[in-house]
Amino acid sequence: MNKVCKIAALAGDGIGPEVMREAIKTLRAVEKKFSLRIELTEAPVGWAGIDAAGKALPDATLALCRQSDAILFGSVGLPSRDPSIPKEERPERAALLRLRKEFSLFANLRPVRLPLALAGSCPLRPERQGRGIDILVVRELTGGLYFGQPKKTEEVIDLPEKNGPGRHYSRAIDTMVYTTIEIERIAHIAFQAARLRRKILASVDKANVLENGILWRETVTRIGKQYPDVALEHIFVDNAAMQMVLNPSRFDVLLAENMFGDILSDEAAALAGSLGMLPSASLGTTTGERTFGLFEPAGGSAPDIAGKDLANPIAQIGSVALLLRYSLGLNEAADAIDQAITRVIDSGLRTGDIYQKDAPGTGKVGTRAMGDAIAKAI
Ligand code: IPM
Ligand code: MG
Repeated sequence: MNKVCKIAALAGDGIGPEVMREAIKTLRAVEKKFSLRIELTEAPVGWAGIDAAGKALPDATLALCRQSDAILFGSVGLPSRDPSIPKEERPERAALLRLRKEFSLFANLRPVRLPLALAGSCPLRPERQGRGIDILVVRELTGGLYFGQPKKTEEVIDLPEKNGPGRHYSRAIDTMVYTTIEIERIAHIAFQAARLRRKILASVDKANVLENGILWRETVTRIGKQYPDVALEHIFVDNAAMQMVLNPSRFDVLLAENMFGDILSDEAAALAGSLGMLPSASLGTTTGERTFGLFEPAGGSAPDIAGKDLANPIAQIGSVALLLRYSLGLNEAADAIDQAITRVIDSGLRTGDIYQKDAPGTGKVGTRAMGDAIAKAI
């Protein structure tokens, strides 16, 4: 491909800048190896955006995203600073959720894989790991409890009964709402993904309690008729959380609404060694041969370890691979990154989150050394 690919790199807060630095290093290495033409522009977001331009998503940053083919996102949020601004202006809502909504990034893909070499970092006993863990979480990303209206906290005053005292209290409301249109489009993504894998789809809901769950189950069942080659099962979210730790190797593709997918993808990531290993792709619409997307580690800004060369950069580097694959269709370059990550893990390098004292042939390294090794392995 000889067209220039425009990437907006938004490092954000906490460990964001240091893992982004390593991701860009890797991107430059594949750019060189495959003679790609990549135009990468960095811009502030999150608290970095607030400090630079007074807003978690500065206008110039949003404008840059609009002109780009894809966004490489770090992480945002510093809970210790939250009390200083209204909740609507905090980075999670005002930058990350805003970008997801703004670009209709409804399909969030989170590939969770436990590499053989990291079996010891999985919290499950080896016999529970079965044939290994290889799950693709497909999370709906622009609906459900995160975005439903009304969403507010209000003050309530009960009038006094007879002569008794009145009562003042607060009431917080979040709304869970899904339309068939939203469920259908994410279901198609999940079935299509399953077709490229082991052809097993577990659709997660709470149809025994929630109206949303009933509609979810009906709609996914109906869409499933178009994919008779994919084995579809429906599973309640509580059972899914349990099955994940009892028998994770039964899962192939896991389809879930926004909130359930948020929770289950963290659980799955922990099984695969560490949240620091989990990249994610948030995809919107396709124009021509490119799909606009935002690519980010599934973990957060981890302020407690920020700036200490402790963070695992693999989730951010893996997000570059997803960007090349899903947004730009550069599969070879994406494969090169995935293989480089595997080689470096196999060679024994470990950041603290995946390090095990008694594992032979391994050594603990920092963020920078891990990034250098992966870039070199390209
Ligand atoms: C994730 C994160 C975000 C989410 C937070 C940072 C708002 O946990 O991407 O999973 O809840 O979606
Ligand atoms: Mg999460």
